[in-house]
Amino acid sequence: MTDIMWEAIRAVAEPDLKSIFDTDPGRLDRLTLTVAGLRFDWSKTHMTGALMTAFERLAEARNFTAHRDALFSGAVVNPTEGRAAEHCAERGEGAADSVAHAKMLHYRMRALIDAIEAEALGPVRHILHIGIGGSALGPDLLMDALGRDAGRYDVAVVSNVDGCAFEEAVKNFDPQATLLAVASKTFTTTETMLNARSAINWMIEGEVDDPYGRVIALTASPDKAIEWGVDETRILPFSETVGGRYSLWSSIGFPAALGLGWDAFESLLEGAAEMDRHFRLSPPEKNAPLIAAFIDQYYARVKACQTRGLFAYDERLRLLPSYLQQLEMESNGKSVKVDGSPVDGPTAPVTWGGVGTDAQHAVFQLLHQGTHLIPVEFIASIEPGHALDPAHHAALLTNCFAQGAALMRGRDNAGDPARAYPGGRPSTTILMEDVAPHTLGALLAFYEHRTFANAVLMEINPFDQFGVELGKEIAKAIEKDGPSGFDPSTSALIDLAMGNDD
Ligand code: F6P
Repeated sequence: MTDIMWEAIRAVAEPDLKSIFDTDPGRLDRLTLTVAGLRFDWSKTHMTGALMTAFERLAEARNFTAHRDALFSGAVVNPTEGRAAEHCAERGEGAADSVAHAKMLHYRMRALIDAIEAEALGPVRHILHIGIGGSALGPDLLMDALGRDAGRYDVAVVSNVDGCAFEEAVKNFDPQATLLAVASKTFTTTETMLNARSAINWMIEGEVDDPYGRVIALTASPDKAIEWGVDETRILPFSETVGGRYSLWSSIGFPAALGLGWDAFESLLEGAAEMDRHFRLSPPEKNAPLIAAFIDQYYARVKACQTRGLFAYDERLRLLPSYLQQLEMESNGKSVKVDGSPVDGPTAPVTWGGVGTDAQHAVFQLLHQGTHLIPVEFIASIEPGHALDPAHHAALLTNCFAQGAALMRGRDNAGDPARAYPGGRPSTTILMEDVAPHTLGALLAFYEHRTFANAVLMEINPFDQFGVELGKEIAKAIEKDGPSGFDPSTSALIDLAMGNDD
């Protein structure tokens, strides 16, 4: 059944991107959409009316609507772990009891924030947030994007187990004025627990009277946090059904809620909820995450593109590529379908990217003239994030739009091939009204739903991540038993680096 669907998709005539606006003049209207302050423009991709119809049939064959309903109803959509995936409930969209539970936990977070602001835990000027992966990337992105002028607290996020990261983070922090947020869904992650221990030691060295009294735990495993020494009143729990890379909406977002203020955090959730409703209620041809997933699938499976480049033309969004790398690659980097059978094509593309205009002077050469075909995504904001000469923002946006036009149009140069540009290279542009809590919430929710829609089309489970476990296990075994029992290369490296060589 579904193979026939893919045959139908492959049979659709491929348009010539270089002349696509001449052959299909209505495409700008058809392939642009504005949702929650975000304008999506897919008109410079190979998407056509016929292709859209073929993909809509694929979505139907994959029971997309039923899968989407299951996601929002709190049904088990992560069968390998027997769990629902209820990040939408954190923003008020989902099963009524899950939404009520999430609201109650948000009230608790707000009450603790009020107490901190009232200095009930002593003076606080700095927040040291310790976590890794989904317990760090989201808060880091939010503070970097939105917190530049917040002027409330200095927030530093430490994730890497490399002590250099910790030393750098606390370099200008006064331990007496620091609040420590330990973020870990499981409260067992090696890197986080080691960094948290070092943070306690740093506080002890800084003569903080009651270092554990300055710890807030953000976790779905409150018992483990209590065991570690955190008082129950300073634990901000979240539900087991919220996945790590989908967790910034829960108490994992605590440093942002404290650092930006509660109103900003609420606005972030509302922006995400607006995108949730759009995804849940819009028909396929008007559904931004689903259309984006159709295009992702087309490039991955029909055009064999192995990567997707993502360029934020806004310094405030410089951490977006790393955030989306986890979201997309940890979710959809799989080799088996939900039923355990091997996947029948490529899954998540390698998501990579950078910041414009910097990236233009580094990697865009390959995008324009290299042999790879790389669909590119540009993200920019109409409103600048600074008060400098407007020429800065004009130059930034002009460059962004020029790149998309150049990739598509190309330029022939028969007499001088080194100076020829093949063109016909696709790009998508997402133009934000501004980089503000509401629009950023909507943008991140868009990417979550796009990832989910891709997974449904590929019949894979985007909510587990067993791929990361083997390496963790081996690291533990090396820590415990040393180099014995490993291949000669690994053993030699351990001996050399850990001083076990005789
Ligand atoms: O190793 C992968 C992972 O499990 C991610 O999925 C998660 O975001 C990260 O580790 C951190 O996990 P935790 O929040 O339990 O410390």
